[in-house]
Amino acid sequence: MTRILYDTDLIGDDLLTIIAAAGLKDVRVEGITGFGRRIPAVERAEIAALLCHALGLRGVPTAGGADRPLLNPPRKGCEACDGPITSFRQRMRERAGREASGDILPDPRGAVPLIVETIRNNPGEITLLGTGPFTNLAQAVLQAPDIAEKVKEVVIMGGTAWTPGNTSVVSESNVFTDPHAAAVLFERFPAVTMVGLDVTLKTLVDESVLASLEMKDGGSARRLVLEMVQGIIRACCEVQLARRGTRAMPLHDPLSLLVAWDPSLVKLLPCDIRVELSGTHTCGMTVCTALSRSEAGARSHRVAVEVDSRRAVDTFVSCLKNVFDAVD
Ligand code: BDR
Ligand code: CA
Repeated sequence: MTRILYDTDLIGDDLLTIIAAAGLKDVRVEGITGFGRRIPAVERAEIAALLCHALGLRGVPTAGGADRPLLNPPRKGCEACDGPITSFRQRMRERAGREASGDILPDPRGAVPLIVETIRNNPGEITLLGTGPFTNLAQAVLQAPDIAEKVKEVVIMGGTAWTPGNTSVVSESNVFTDPHAAAVLFERFPAVTMVGLDVTLKTLVDESVLASLEMKDGGSARRLVLEMVQGIIRACCEVQLARRGTRAMPLHDPLSLLVAWDPSLVKLLPCDIRVELSGTHTCGMTVCTALSRSEAGARSHRVAVEVDSRRAVDTFVSCLKNVFDAVD
């Protein structure tokens, strides 16, 4: 069983990651913590709670965390998926109000206590999955350094080793948004698995995938989830067409979940990873130095350098199918 504590900015493919987790065998989501921008973190956490409710994932605590990076000014980030996400929230709120359910409110403890307590209460059991700026994770490990030794592993979507960045020429968005937090992450946790642009940009889905996600029965909360999925995939394909000339969406965050579940989907290279914090043009660069056999050990970071993208995409699509084929 892979027990995931998921820290995320919940902006698009992050939500697809939660949905994929619900369709993945032997994965349990132990909690979801949010980073906020445009939509504050606590509202992002509410969206995660509504999504878990719609998916029938009961008892998953969700909590809001930081609304800005450790030191840098806030960045607005990509707004492309805000429409489908806020529409899902509105329609789920109406439904949930009618059902008067108690498990749709974010956990009042907030993100950092939730992260720290979950790891301390389950030593050696929890996989930390990070797919947003790493502010909450950095704050957690700075406040409670012991969690670095108590997690089972840390897997992130973020950074890029040898592929150009997607936010600056050399920097990936999650790292670029809060480079200081990313630096803390790589310094304090002894073995981080970095699933970055080197592999996520090779793992693409296009809108044809939507044809396989039809639902037979209508009217359920799951249908609202499906409509959000359709909206997110269409919006992300549109963005990629404008940015890269290809109408296909990279599975950034879902791939990191899949790697946490089955690392054989990628080839992992032991590396020393440092985050550039002072370069005028290179701030947020993840500087990855491959380690020799004698230097590498159980406690070295690892960078995903190759991916079986066919198998990753097929697994992702079958997770979604499992979710939408399930009866409410
Ligand atoms: C990362 O940035 C976010 O926008 C995506 O959800 C993903 O985590 C890609 O650079
Ligand atoms: Ca993300």
